[in-house]
Amino acid sequence: MKIGVVGGGQLGRMLGLAGLPLGFQFRFLEPSADCPAARLGEVIRAPYHDMDGLERFAQDLSFATYEFENVPAETAQWLSERLTLAPTARALSIAQDRIAEKTTFRDLGIPVQNFAGISSAGEIEAAVLKVPLPAVLKTRRLGYDGKGQRVLRVGSTDAASTVRTAWNELGKVPCILESFVAFSAEVSMIAVRARNPGHGASIAFYPLTQNEHRDGILWKSQAPAPCDQSGELAESARAHVRTLMESLDYVGVIAVEFFVTDAGLVANEMAPRVHNSGHWTTDGAVTSQFENHLRAVGTMPLGSTECHGASVMINLVGRSPIASRILEIPRAKLHLYGKGPRPGRKLGHVTLTGPTAHSLAAPTAELERLVAWDL
Ligand SMILES: Nc1ncnc2c1ncn2[C@@H]1O[C@H](COP(=O)(O)OP(=O)(O)O)[C@@H](O)[C@H]1O
Ligand SMILES: [Mg+2]
Repeated sequence: MKIGVVGGGQLGRMLGLAGLPLGFQFRFLEPSADCPAARLGEVIRAPYHDMDGLERFAQDLSFATYEFENVPAETAQWLSERLTLAPTARALSIAQDRIAEKTTFRDLGIPVQNFAGISSAGEIEAAVLKVPLPAVLKTRRLGYDGKGQRVLRVGSTDAASTVRTAWNELGKVPCILESFVAFSAEVSMIAVRARNPGHGASIAFYPLTQNEHRDGILWKSQAPAPCDQSGELAESARAHVRTLMESLDYVGVIAVEFFVTDAGLVANEMAPRVHNSGHWTTDGAVTSQFENHLRAVGTMPLGSTECHGASVMINLVGRSPIASRILEIPRAKLHLYGKGPRPGRKLGHVTLTGPTAHSLAAPTAELERLVAWDL
């Protein structure tokens, strides 16, 4: 079966690596030459909205997916009319707009922080009344890895002027003002849903993953989440993500990020695709998020999400790591994306998997010492 993937970055590459053993073939739509996925299949080199490129990409394809969130809405719509696009254009459009995303969560009874939209300077006064500082101002669209955000603390100037300055700095584009959440931890739930002809739908969940960010970029993921000894947070996350997937009739892998607070989970955002906080599943689970995503997109049965004990993943960001030093660490599995060094750029990740979280403490400390970030 040939699957079309919009985007040829590292997630496309990992989808390719997971799918080739199952006999999947790949066609990527990607404007830049020499992309990380280039060796895993055919590449249609064209901008994402180029009609001629889209025609060539969609030719003879029955199934397509995407590996990044900012696929133009028209492209997703055009593809949906010609083939099975999963996750759907609707799920994509919700994830592209932080207001639509939080409104969807709230309407489904999934807890979210207070938020207000700001599309013009005139809306700032009303927004700060609804969402007092401390708060986070974020662009509604196109933000990733903490980009397009400003944390606003209570200061000497009044709240409206603080927000106005930040809104000007972000380019006066439509924004969302959210309450700052004093979280004790961040976690994500990676889940997958497939429609099986004749058998309804099936859903599988990975263990709750705990995530640490540095400068807005994911630094480390641990699964199962150490902050959830009782398993209650995982249970609550599964219930929320199930509600979300069923209401969207979702197909494929989804990642939902939550803040852990004294009052329980607060949903922050969703990614309608395979996710960095699920990269450990390649080494730490019976079926990786990448393989399960492809199975779901291709209407095949899902694979087991059972894990081989505990896993830790650390991202390699900015500069090329010294591969041989990393490989000296027992249990270290190195994944490089074939990208050149650049500050703030994700170049690869390392996974450690062992029978217990305790067994990973020493190799994790060694890995953390080795991995320098160039932000
Ligand atoms: N409302 C908030 N309160 C506290 N911290 C936040 C809030 N929003 C975002 N953050 C921090 O910034 C990180 C990135 O923000 P996020 O909304 O996930 O955007 P993206 O991952 O798309 O850049 C979060 O993982 C969290 O650490
Ligand atoms: Mg995020």
